Amino acid sequence: MCGIFGYRGKDLQLVYLLEGLKKLEYRGYDSCGVIAYNLGKFLCKKNSGKIEELKESLTDKLNNKYSSALLHTRWATHGKPIKLNAHPHKSSKKNIHVVHNGIIENYLELKKKLKKKGYKFKSDTDSEITANLIASFYKGSIEEAVFSAVKKLKGAFALGVLSEFEPDKIIAVRHKSPLLIGAAAEGFFLASDLPAIVSLAKEAVYLKEKQIAVLSAEKIKLYDFNGKRAKVNKEKINIKTVSTNKKGFKHFMLKEIYQQPKVLRDTLDIYTKNNQINFGQLKLTKKYLKGVKNIFITACGTAFHAAHVTKYFLERHTNIKVEIDTSSEFRYRDFNVNKGDLFIAISQSGETADTLAALKKAKKRKAKILSICNVIGSSLARESDSFIYTPAGPEIGVASTKAYTTQLMCLYLFCLHLATIKNTISKTNKNNILKELFKIPLYQKKILRQNKKIAMIAKKFSKAGCFLFLGRGINFPSALEGALKLKEISYIPAEGYPAGEMKHGPIALIDEYRAVVCIAPMDDLHEKMVSNLQEIKARRGKILAIINPADAEIPSFSNQIIYIPKLKFQEISPLLVVVALQLFAYSVAKNLGAEIDQPRNLAKSVTVE
Ligand code: AGP
Repeated sequence: MCGIFGYRGKDLQLVYLLEGLKKLEYRGYDSCGVIAYNLGKFLCKKNSGKIEELKESLTDKLNNKYSSALLHTRWATHGKPIKLNAHPHKSSKKNIHVVHNGIIENYLELKKKLKKKGYKFKSDTDSEITANLIASFYKGSIEEAVFSAVKKLKGAFALGVLSEFEPDKIIAVRHKSPLLIGAAAEGFFLASDLPAIVSLAKEAVYLKEKQIAVLSAEKIKLYDFNGKRAKVNKEKINIKTVSTNKKGFKHFMLKEIYQQPKVLRDTLDIYTKNNQINFGQLKLTKKYLKGVKNIFITACGTAFHAAHVTKYFLERHTNIKVEIDTSSEFRYRDFNVNKGDLFIAISQSGETADTLAALKKAKKRKAKILSICNVIGSSLARESDSFIYTPAGPEIGVASTKAYTTQLMCLYLFCLHLATIKNTISKTNKNNILKELFKIPLYQKKILRQNKKIAMIAKKFSKAGCFLFLGRGINFPSALEGALKLKEISYIPAEGYPAGEMKHGPIALIDEYRAVVCIAPMDDLHEKMVSNLQEIKARRGKILAIINPADAEIPSFSNQIIYIPKLKFQEISPLLVVVALQLFAYSVAKNLGAEIDQPRNLAKSVTVE
């Protein structure tokens, strides 16, 4: 995924334009560039590396003002992260500059045709063809050329286009990749995502699928891909949801770990009223939910682990058949979702290509679509029949933390709502679980207060060559999530495994060099976990146990221990276990001096396949 930032207005200093782009750096950060125009002059500069380096290469221009500008920060899909492949790309004829987010699936075929027309290519990217394609249709109107060109493109593309012959216009195109326009006194800002414009504009226009915007200094004109005018809808930007500074924390990830008690409190405030669950805005009627027999849940990465936890909880409290799969698998399977089944898609960004594709497949099969998402204007939210907003606020750290626990809290509440409608849970049981959910923010704070101790423990494990994370039942997904957190920010190989599977192979790994994180709250599988830990100890594995303070058995054969508060309903313990695992992963990565907020090769949302 990449970040697009643009401006069209009276004039704005370059330093502010670069600041706007920096707010999108979490989307991709291997190379970046700018094309800017004012009073007959153009500035065009691009670099491999981060925006800070680009800024350093433009120190003498930072106070210059520009009236039209396009900026881009890249996460490489086609072509290495080098200067030549950075955006903007300029057409080899007619001087048209383009920034792109997405993937052009038919770029090779188009490249061949454009070469025959005499167009030259400098980069190995798919994006560069969009500049030459638009140029090939240019006859004096840049918007007309764009209308013609987009009809030839296949794949996902958000584009920003600037023609040197008509520098007073910025053209924006949205197709399967987000773009929004902020309207401010200084003019219009174009951005891939809200964080880039929230401190600049009070209103936003979310481009819809297959829409083209023409930005001049005074106004926005909207068209569909056939050139037909569309209505411009300005929506108020909810400032509360967007704050993108570290507030004294060393990394966004640590800040977001510490924000979890608050965002979970916010979630409970939004979705409960007088201590009862209240999904007032849910567009799935009680009548429909009562009749639901099959639920399919799809997501990627951390969001998939939330799906996994939900499966265990739903099976425990309802008679519904639940199937889960990662979106990249679901979308290519012939899974038998039918009309009326409930299809739940979970996504922090709401722009993950595989999850959107799986959702669209289920939609074609006439399933009801419910999305659980952290971005209100996202593609996922717009494609769904109903949408539960996770009020985590923008999550800047690439490793997902507060979005995960907010997804879990929303899903626990939704499952209790569903079980109540289906009459498969007693009122007492539901109320007792709900009462304990209300205590979670407090319990998480108890774990956060152990951060220094966890950092000491992490030091002892930072040299481990690889990690095994073990859990059972509803904490098997916690083991998967703990392993993902560690590997994606420390680059240490880590695997989450169902503890019951150890004797079927992984126990061969165990020796004195192996680190094993065992998740063993005092639930109905605790005794089984005790046996697992004894088997590991017997083979001199180094054990970090995540357990409750009352546990009298496990400490005697663990090397290190992190305590989490004991719950009456251990099926909600994933909300606590994961905080310990997040802090552990963060401290290990910090000890190794890793680039925690922007790990190599990753991006915050994978909008490409
Ligand atoms: C999580 O730490 C990862 N950054 C990644 O697995 C992420 O969860 C996945 O890409 C899904 O993203 P989404 O929630 O925005 O769809």
